Amino acid sequence: MRTNYCGEIKATHIDETVTLYGWVDRRRDHGGVIFIDLRDRTGTVQIVSDPQRTPESYGDANFLRNEYVIEVIGRVSKRPEESLNPKIATGEVEIYADRIKLLNKVSKQQLPFQVCTEEYETVGETLRLKYRYLDLRRDRMNKNLQLRHQVVKAMRRYLEDTENFIEIETPILTRSTPEGARDYLVPSRVNPGSWYALPQSPQLFKQLLMVSGFDRYYQIARCFRDEDLRADRQPEFTQLDMEMSFMSEEEILQLNEGLVCQIFKTVKNIDIPRPFPRITYAEAMEKYGTDRPDTRFGLELVDVSEIVKDCGFKVFSGAIKNGGIVKVLPIPNGNETIPNVWIKPKGELFKEATAAGAKGIAYLRVKENNQIETIGAIKDNLSPEQMQELIEKTGAKPGYLLLFGAGDIPTVNKSLDRLRQVIGDRLGLIDKNKINLIWVTEFPMFEWNADEKRYEALHHPFTAPNPEDLADLKTARALAYDLVYNGVEIGGGSLRIYQRDIQEKVFETIGLSMEEAKKQFGFLLEAFEYGTPPHGGIAYGLDRMVMLIAGEESIREVMAFPKTQQATSLLTDAPAQVDEKQLKELYVASTYDPDAE
Ligand code: AMO
Repeated sequence: MRTNYCGEIKATHIDETVTLYGWVDRRRDHGGVIFIDLRDRTGTVQIVSDPQRTPESYGDANFLRNEYVIEVIGRVSKRPEESLNPKIATGEVEIYADRIKLLNKVSKQQLPFQVCTEEYETVGETLRLKYRYLDLRRDRMNKNLQLRHQVVKAMRRYLEDTENFIEIETPILTRSTPEGARDYLVPSRVNPGSWYALPQSPQLFKQLLMVSGFDRYYQIARCFRDEDLRADRQPEFTQLDMEMSFMSEEEILQLNEGLVCQIFKTVKNIDIPRPFPRITYAEAMEKYGTDRPDTRFGLELVDVSEIVKDCGFKVFSGAIKNGGIVKVLPIPNGNETIPNVWIKPKGELFKEATAAGAKGIAYLRVKENNQIETIGAIKDNLSPEQMQELIEKTGAKPGYLLLFGAGDIPTVNKSLDRLRQVIGDRLGLIDKNKINLIWVTEFPMFEWNADEKRYEALHHPFTAPNPEDLADLKTARALAYDLVYNGVEIGGGSLRIYQRDIQEKVFETIGLSMEEAKKQFGFLLEAFEYGTPPHGGIAYGLDRMVMLIAGEESIREVMAFPKTQQATSLLTDAPAQVDEKQLKELYVASTYDPDAE
């Protein structure tokens, strides 16, 4: 019987005989004395075997290799002074092995990579994902998964014990949910020709649960979205999903601040100051060009359209005449820190801006005595007064570099947001120890889809409009909020529509006929007719939250078995071909033609 885990052995165990199980993290032979770092999920402890003190285990110890699975029975001793290791939790002790029993060896000739901590960081992700079960033995991944567990545990404790929520599971085989991504579909064998969709979120069900009276629901919910993948997106991911009845937006935000603070307190012992700062969507777009600003550093954008609207520089005045905008990203000290070659074609800032849709970057440098140095067209086409106004409006001082974005509003915002982030990073303006959690509120209800020439719901079509804006829904603000953590959207939610007439108006605005709406969500609309409480909710991206708390750059590092950017599993080789027979049973035939690619 195991008496202890490896990582918990410390000075208080000295002279005790313990039984441990684990893997050989490392085996070293020091002139006849064999040292083994024995590892389990809690950490490592040093096992010692030598022919004099532990003759019975010596033969077995000698035979061991890395990653063999063993049982060790031995006596805990204090390490000699010269081999104390303050870097590990068990660094004061070692265990003289009376007995070592080999439970299983590594029968493969070679490990695909060394699992032990020191040698790991050079292993490429492809290999790590293929042998994920070995990768997960590693300290970093072990810590990340344990952290993830602690975060979920803190969520459950807060929601269940402090706030009286109950957890309810909702179906995985279901109908399409309106979150805006592509669905993963599953053919039905018993209903030929019909398909289930995997849920993009439990949105419809959680609202139904409110109709049923479970006024505080939560779920650690798996969600599926077939969209382009990035470092913070996976085809299947986990949400903390919540829905509440009879609560105002303010009450929902307060409760959620309590939740987030409890998570940080429990897993990091950090007190996050409350209330969390709030910024409206409009203000975020104006100052940062994005609805998820990283507020750990300044570099706020300034709209200078008014100043340059009639100037001779056609790039500026033309943009404004076409309904666009001119904005400036002012960079203190930019003259010293950002050379022209970064900004000009082929430069790294130029590449960032053009990748975001800009045609280039116009710029000015403010010299001593507020003399302005610039290139070509801007200089010749801005009057001294306009230059002066620019300096005043942007708050520029000697040494400032002003980068301009001109064009349609989304492109200007997107490109300057990109530049702001890259420059913040390159110039070391971001304090990596900072935790900035902010609410972004008052999202617009709809955005214009230029390709399809119609409005679409920015969040989803059940999001409630601000009651002050009912006169013109197209421009209405929604009662919707996102939680942004250091520039990453970790959660989002809204109050929902619970009155039939408003719901109809929203469908009308997005060009969804009542008939079509009934076809898609008829069951929900009908449910709403049987006494629906006012309600609202939120969902957090659990993977993203844990990624940020762990200080990782990708959500793959905090998921046990993630997929690649191509949505494949290198471990199981999913997705894979299936038997013709299976397809037949499902009435499915593939139209895929590899030669047509
Ligand atoms: P939303 O679509 O904003 O809201 O999703 C909520 C949160 O889930 C995370 N997230 C993702 N994480 C990893 N990979 C993905 N592909 C991915 N997509 C989203 C984000 C996001 O903030 N039903 C609504 C919530 C509500 O209104 O209550 C919803 O799903 O962190």
